[in-house]
Amino acid sequence: MAQVLVENVYKSYSRGKADGENTSEAVAKKVSSSKASSKQVSVLRDINFTVKDGEFLVLVGPSGCGKSTLLRLLAGLEELTGGNIKIGDRLINDLPPKARDIAMVFQNYALYPHLNIYDNIAFGLRRNSGTGGLGDKKTRKKDKANSSFFESALTATTRYLPRSLKYLSAKEKDVRDRVRYVASLLQIESLLDRLPKELSGGQKQRVALGRAIARNPQVFLMDEPLSNLDAKLRTQTRAQIVKLQRQLNTTTIYVTHDQTEAMTMGDRIAVMNNGQIQQIAPPLEIYEQPANRFVAEFIGSPPMNFLAVDLGLPLTLINQHFTLELPVDWTKSLQSSLAKSLILGIRPQHLSIGTEDESSIHIEVDLVEALGNETYISAHLTAQPDTILTVSLPPEQSVKIGDRLWLTVDINKIYLFTVDDGRAIALK
Ligand SMILES: Nc1ncnc2c1ncn2[C@@H]1O[C@H](COP(=O)(O)OP(=O)(O)OP(=O)(O)O)[C@@H](O)[C@H]1O
Ligand SMILES: [Mg+2]
Repeated sequence: MAQVLVENVYKSYSRGKADGENTSEAVAKKVSSSKASSKQVSVLRDINFTVKDGEFLVLVGPSGCGKSTLLRLLAGLEELTGGNIKIGDRLINDLPPKARDIAMVFQNYALYPHLNIYDNIAFGLRRNSGTGGLGDKKTRKKDKANSSFFESALTATTRYLPRSLKYLSAKEKDVRDRVRYVASLLQIESLLDRLPKELSGGQKQRVALGRAIARNPQVFLMDEPLSNLDAKLRTQTRAQIVKLQRQLNTTTIYVTHDQTEAMTMGDRIAVMNNGQIQQIAPPLEIYEQPANRFVAEFIGSPPMNFLAVDLGLPLTLINQHFTLELPVDWTKSLQSSLAKSLILGIRPQHLSIGTEDESSIHIEVDLVEALGNETYISAHLTAQPDTILTVSLPPEQSVKIGDRLWLTVDINKIYLFTVDDGRAIALK
C-alpha cells in the first residue's frame, strides 16, 4: 500500500507508419525523444493528482480520452513523454513493470486456458516471489537450498496426483495458503480445479481479480474490469470489488466510462476529457458542483439539459421563450460575472409538469420511456423545435407522445456556465 503521485504527466504518440518512418531506428529515435514534435499526437496533457494510501480513485471519461493510456503509464507498459510518477517515495518513471509492485486487471481477463483456476492464481506467485507476502528473503533462500535432487524427484513423481497428495515445497505451501486465502475472499473455492472455459464470465472476472489480489501489490490498476459482464453480474461484482478494496485497503485506480460505477465505487472521481483532467472530487461533489459544462453533462443520468440565456438585471435569466427570476443567493456570483450571455443547466429531475406562466417552458413530447420507477420524456420546445429537453417524471404521471405541456424549472437547482469556456459559475 502506498500513495501514488502523478506530476505534470504528458504523453504523445508518434504518427509512425503513416509518415513512412516505421523502421526500428526511427521508432527507437521517437521513443527516446521526450519532446513532442509536429509528428506527435498528444494524448495526455498536464496530468496532476495524488491518490492517497488506501484510496479508491475512479478515472472516468468518454472513449478515447486517455484513461487506458494513463493506467498503462502507471503500470510501466508505456513510456512517459514528460512528468513524474511516484509510488510511495519511489520515483518509478524508468522502472520496468515487474519492479513497480503494481497489479493490473484488464477488461479481457486473459486467463491461461490450459491451467486450472488454482494454477492461474498461483502463476504470478510462483514466478514473482519478490512480492505478495510469500515468505521473507530468508525463507526463500532456505527453500532454494532445499530443492535438492530428492525434492525435485518427489515433486515430479507426485505432479499428476490429486492436489491433496502432491508433494509441496515450502514455497509451494506459501503459494497454496495464498491461493486459498484469495479464493475464500472471492468465494471461488469450489472452482479451483476447473479450467477457465468451464467458468461463467463473472467467475472468470473474479479469478482475474484473484490473480491480482494474490500478489498483494502496493497498487491495483483496473481497466474496465466489468464491461464484459451482464447488468446483474456487474452490480454484484461492483459491490464485491468495493468491499474487497476496503478490506485489503490497497490503493486502487479504477477506469470506467460508466458513470454509475464512477458514482458508486470511488472515494473520489477524476473526470477526464480529451487528454486532460477536468475535475477531481468525491462523487457527490462532482454531481452537485461540476466544475464545467463537460463534467455537468457527463455525470448524471439522463444528462443535464442546456439552454442559452441572457442575464438581465438585477437577477433575471431571459430566454426568448421564458424568463426566470433567480434567488438572491446568486447576487454575489453574478456581480463578478461580466458575461451577459450564459448557459443555463437543468437536470432532468429538476423539471416538472406545471401550468402556463412566464417562467414555464412550453414543450411537445417526442418520446416516452417508462422505466417503472420513473419515466423519462424527450421533448422539443414548441417555439424552437431544434431545442430538445429531457425530463424525469414520477411514474404515476401519465404522458404520451404528442402531448403539449408546460414545464416548471426548480430554480433552486439550476446551474450556470460561461458561454466561451463552459466554466461553471459557482454559487457563493
Ligand atoms: N499506441 C498508440 N499509438 C497512437 N495513438 C494511440 C495509441 N494508443 C492509444 N492511442 C490514442 O490515444 C487516445 C487515448 O486512448 P486510450 O486507449 O487511452 O483511451 P480510453 O480513454 O482508454 O478509451 P476507451 O474508453 O475507448 O478504452 C486515443 O485517441 C487513441 O487513439
Ligand atoms: Mg481504455
